[in-house]
Amino acid sequence: MADFIQRSVADDRIKAKYAKTDAARLEKMLVDQICEAAGGPCTYSGRDMKQAHTDMGVTAAEFDAQVEVLGASLDHFNVSQAEQDELLGLLAPMRDDIVEVESQETGTPLPAAFQPAPPLS
Ligand code: HEM
Repeated sequence: MADFIQRSVADDRIKAKYAKTDAARLEKMLVDQICEAAGGPCTYSGRDMKQAHTDMGVTAAEFDAQVEVLGASLDHFNVSQAEQDELLGLLAPMRDDIVEVESQETGTPLPAAFQPAPPLS
């Protein structure tokens, strides 16, 4: 997960969105969300996908870029295409809760209205 976050904050198409984010919290929440979706034993305790991405101004093309970065990270760890497709099948339905702007622009700024989740205490 650290590899995925590092790739995300290094990618010019999406990195602006992470400017206010607590990386330790994000890492824990991503692990728990995927672990819970895969059948446990973890429990995801973060915000729902709509709340987490509200006022982030994520575009359609930025969503696709984020999925591509995930694929690059999974390739790095030799995750098979079949397993990647299974994960993408879980993520695809979340798109409507995350994309706020139906445009092909990438690298759009993080709106000032965005309120990050509090860091882990
Ligand atoms: C299917 C795709 C996605 C999934 C499953 C997902 C999942 C998550 C999860 C579980 C969190 C943690 C929420 C919390 O801390 O309570 C989160 C936060 C975040 N996501 Fe996503 N995300 C997706 C797409 C995107 C995209 C496309 C972007 C930007 C281009 C993005 C940027 C962020 C950022 C910046 C945060 C941190 C928010 C904060 O600081 O509070 N995500 N995401």
